[in-house]
Amino acid sequence: MRVGMIGVGATLLVAAMAGTGAAQTTPRATAAKMKNPAAADAASIASGQQLYTKQCRMCHGTTGKADTAAAKAMGASDLTDATWTRGSSDGELFVVIQEGAGPDYKMKGFKGRLSEQDTWHVVNFIRSLSGK
Ligand code: HEC
Repeated sequence: MRVGMIGVGATLLVAAMAGTGAAQTTPRATAAKMKNPAAADAASIASGQQLYTKQCRMCHGTTGKADTAAAKAMGASDLTDATWTRGSSDGELFVVIQEGAGPDYKMKGFKGRLSEQDTWHVVNFIRSLSGK
């Protein structure tokens, strides 16, 4: 049973990693200046959480701490700590989610799978995880 479940998990993961996201094309300076059009209110955070649960939890874990075996194995980022390797502004987070986390792109971008509006909701949600 346990082995079977790991097998299913691994298959889902491979499918997710084979996503169609393109490499990051928005320069970081441009990303840093982008303005989040979605107010970080309770409704936005709730819809961000729903999307996160569907699209991100398998790699970053339910709490965003990336403390699952799968998350550790692939080196997924802890989304609750103060470290943002690729920038901490809303715009920089938005671009990582849309275009992927380079330079290795172990995380592909969600362009075409998450609308821009939904991506801003996810930004608001992950920001709420640690209150930063
Ligand atoms: C296929 C697994 C996978 C999925 C699905 C995934 N991520 Fe990631 N994510 C990673 C990995 C692995 C890294 C670290 C990449 C690296 O450092 O090379 C990462 C990095 C990040 C970073 C960068 C953190 C930093 O410090 O720069 C953010 C932000 C992020 N992910 C958010 C998300 C969000 C939000 C979603 C859902 C919309 C998501 N991820 C879906 C695997 C994934």
